[in-house]
Amino acid sequence: MSEAILGIETSCDETAAAVVADGAAVLGNVVHSQVELHARWRGVVPEVASRSHTERVLPIVAQALAEAGLAPADLAAVAVTHRPGMVGCLLVGLAAAKALCWRFAKPLLAVDHVQAHVHTGLLADPAMPLPALALVASGGHTALWLLHEPGRTERLGTTRDDAAGEALDKGAALLGLPYPGGPAIEAAAAGGDGRAFPLPRTLLGPDSLDFSFSGLKTALLYTLRPQAGPPLPPPAGAVLRDLAASYQAAVVDVLVQKLLRAAARFPVRSLCIGGGVARNATLRERLRAEPALSHLHLVLPAPALCADNGAMVASLGFHHLRAGRIAPLDLDAIATPQAGGKTKVRP
Ligand code: KG4
Ligand code: ZN
Repeated sequence: MSEAILGIETSCDETAAAVVADGAAVLGNVVHSQVELHARWRGVVPEVASRSHTERVLPIVAQALAEAGLAPADLAAVAVTHRPGMVGCLLVGLAAAKALCWRFAKPLLAVDHVQAHVHTGLLADPAMPLPALALVASGGHTALWLLHEPGRTERLGTTRDDAAGEALDKGAALLGLPYPGGPAIEAAAAGGDGRAFPLPRTLLGPDSLDFSFSGLKTALLYTLRPQAGPPLPPPAGAVLRDLAASYQAAVVDVLVQKLLRAAARFPVRSLCIGGGVARNATLRERLRAEPALSHLHLVLPAPALCADNGAMVASLGFHHLRAGRIAPLDLDAIATPQAGGKTKVRP
């Protein structure tokens, strides 16, 4: 008898719901992106986001259930992202999940959004050998994790300033490209030369597994507006292609270098990625081609599972249910990621 779990995600600017059986079989998966609502502000406006979630969440849950061909009564549980994120946004998903649990007498499962990205490898490939090294790179977070077993993770390093996606979003703004910047830079970089402009790779010393991307953004700014001499004209054509490719290459290089460091230091069996930046084709190609990672079982989840979605929430919820980690119906929304997970551990 399979256990179908409804996962609800409203922590940022995607209203998402999915039904997943046994942690990995996606029966229904619906995502509504608010990107158009926020594009003119080049970032997510919390009040606009939570209002849109309020309007959309119930129809999206209904659509996910319809895709799965299930009624709420058929569910084993309801999982919801309750941290981290914008509190007003989280509260919308939480209210919907609690109402369903109350009405249909289902267990509520509390999911940490970052952990859901860490566990996406297990959703894409439930047979992924553990322990795994997981890279989570999104607009709000960039970190390396050890995934020892479902629900047990350890953070190895994180960003000291901007997240990788944030660096791409800010870089795109400097280049005159639209928001969100990651896909815009990826598209603009097509056919460009990633070595054309020398941009820095900040590695923070030989042993560090932390990240720093703020210097890269500043370096791009000074490339466009040199301190001596006149600013360059707004980049276009081949120059824009090369700038976008060089900027993307710098972000991808740092992510790959840090993965290589961690893979050499920890006895992991697999490598998986999650978060919006994990959609990036250049990053995925680099990981597939990297000889020093070829001994690892590589899991590159489908791009739709890397960006924010309800399936990753339902999948981690399944592991919580298995372990008996049921949340109370007065569960709170919390802005910060889950505590625990030591940083900068040594093997
Ligand atoms: O995981 P996500 O959908 O939301 C957060 O939790 O932040 O990640 C969004 C981030 C944005 O910064 C966006 O620019 C970036 O992921 N992104 C990409 C690509 N698609 C989205 N970055 C690089 N390449 C992409 N194709
Ligand atoms: Zn995310």
